[in-house]
Amino acid sequence: MCGIVGYIGQRDCTDVLMDGLEKLEYRGYDSAGIAVFEKTGIKTVKTKGKLIDMRDKLQKEGSPVGHCGIGHTRWATHGEPSDQNSHPHSNGRVTIVHNGIIENYKELKEFLTEKGYVFQSQTDSEVVACLLDYYYSERNPLRAIMETVKELQGSYALGIIFRDFPDRVYATRKESPLIVGIGENEYFIGSDIPAFLKYTKNYVLLEDDDIVCMKTDGIEFYDVHGLPEKKEISVAEWDVEQAQKCGYPHFMLKEIHEQPGIVGNTVESCCRDGVPYFDDIGLTDELIRGVKRVFVVACGTAMHAGIIGRYAIEGLARVPVTVEVASEFRYMDPIVGEGDLVIVVSQSGETADTRAGMELAQHRGAKTLAVVNVKYSAIARQADMYIHTLAGPEIAVASTKAYTAQISVMYLLAFRFAFARGTISEDRMRELTAQLLSAPGSIQRVIDRKKECQFIASKLVNADNLFFIGRTFDYALSLEGSLKLKEISYIHSEAYAAGELKHGTISLIEQGIPVITVATQANILAKTISNMEEVKARGGVIIAVCRKGTSFAEGTVDMKLEIDAPELDDMLVPLPTVCALQLIAYYTSVLRGIDPDKPRNLAKSVTTE
Ligand code: M6R
Repeated sequence: MCGIVGYIGQRDCTDVLMDGLEKLEYRGYDSAGIAVFEKTGIKTVKTKGKLIDMRDKLQKEGSPVGHCGIGHTRWATHGEPSDQNSHPHSNGRVTIVHNGIIENYKELKEFLTEKGYVFQSQTDSEVVACLLDYYYSERNPLRAIMETVKELQGSYALGIIFRDFPDRVYATRKESPLIVGIGENEYFIGSDIPAFLKYTKNYVLLEDDDIVCMKTDGIEFYDVHGLPEKKEISVAEWDVEQAQKCGYPHFMLKEIHEQPGIVGNTVESCCRDGVPYFDDIGLTDELIRGVKRVFVVACGTAMHAGIIGRYAIEGLARVPVTVEVASEFRYMDPIVGEGDLVIVVSQSGETADTRAGMELAQHRGAKTLAVVNVKYSAIARQADMYIHTLAGPEIAVASTKAYTAQISVMYLLAFRFAFARGTISEDRMRELTAQLLSAPGSIQRVIDRKKECQFIASKLVNADNLFFIGRTFDYALSLEGSLKLKEISYIHSEAYAAGELKHGTISLIEQGIPVITVATQANILAKTISNMEEVKARGGVIIAVCRKGTSFAEGTVDMKLEIDAPELDDMLVPLPTVCALQLIAYYTSVLRGIDPDKPRNLAKSVTTE
């Protein structure tokens, strides 16, 4: 959940490292640090806080001057955010940055303490620096790395510099992402491609246990046994602008605005001749017909996308779908196996629980289909089948455009499943696909009316508690709207199936408490309205998010936000509707003086359990 970078070349290393860390700050922002070879030795600057604090410190203390170094932005796991616990960690001869968790760090620490090592931090990472030093002899860094990784349990991406080799950066990884950027006589490492996209689009994906040595005069790759390896260079499809704010005050707002294009591109990329087409990834109609049950396994927002998928697939294709929180699925000994299709949904493709859930399903004989935004991620590469959501780099911690891309794919799967299994006709599949292709229009109309969302946000800004309610698709949206709002505004919020509120939680409704009611589904609108009345009768303030033209009895609704999407079937209305909920969350966060891109305690990619 941290971000690591490294550089060797002719540029100013501090600039390159800080640039890279800025692009990776979404991965953690509890502390930051860099270590750079200067003429007289390694200079390390690190501090608790965000990169902005690091920049201040560099200004005060002077930036290290050199052309080779490593850097880190931290999401604290072991030890509080502090200067001491910040990376890089060093013991003199070896300096490292680490992303991941060393599960056996206690045992290693005991062993190293006995050998005379003294620790400066409470981190698990520092043991790696000491262990590398312990195994470092005869000026052989490669052997030290090989011996060290044999002892490590857990996950790691490591950037390593050795005091004796001021012209080298070493790196290795296991179960944490690490990409090597290949420039003209310069090399980079990064936890994600945007870290070096400004300098090069060419990259090599490190596999688990690979070791790389980057030097001024070339680059060498080794396997776990120290044998040289040849690597294929890939070219990143992302542009530099995609990883920049481009004039928006926050990435989150930019990413919300990107949604019409992203939904359009993602849907088009999965269609052929106007219908969803998945034969190319191996998801043939024959395979679909053989599926007994579908599981969707994911976390957070991606799991909420799975709930939309459940309603769509079950509703249209009449196949049972279970949505499981990945952290539960992996440990609940699930009844899953042959004949089951497990759809894993993830923006990053690195989420530890989702990945473990997928591996468990594969192990038990189920087929796995990944719906993932990062093409080169572990989940995308390990799944039996893979659909690429074309959201581009999502930098804001709160997921927005990845979610709309994910639900677009879920709809397409539902259409194809239903057609393949004979529950809808080809004409209906075409009609629904055409509607989905037109969804960017209604999403844009919501975005164009963002002032109304801002107004609603201004009414929520002082709330201590609030609720989201809805039924079926609207319930799925309520879960997502509520998560988005609490994640970035820190207002306590709960989402309830509208009909469930009265089974206990309604006791929390009192004068003035805001209840955002998502009411877009005509078939259960009357029922939802009854639930609104129940809330209203107890003093709740009803903010209705509904289709344009929906009418309510006088006095039921305090505020109304209408979704103008006449071309969309009710099933597809979540696409524009969620944008309204995202905007409400965004503006509430901003009005409360919070940086929505970097909410407290969170990180974008959750590679720990
Ligand atoms: O990368 P993933 O989609 O697997 O991440 C899953 C969740 O951690 C993520 O969706 C999280 O809930 C977001 N911060 C929500 O905005």
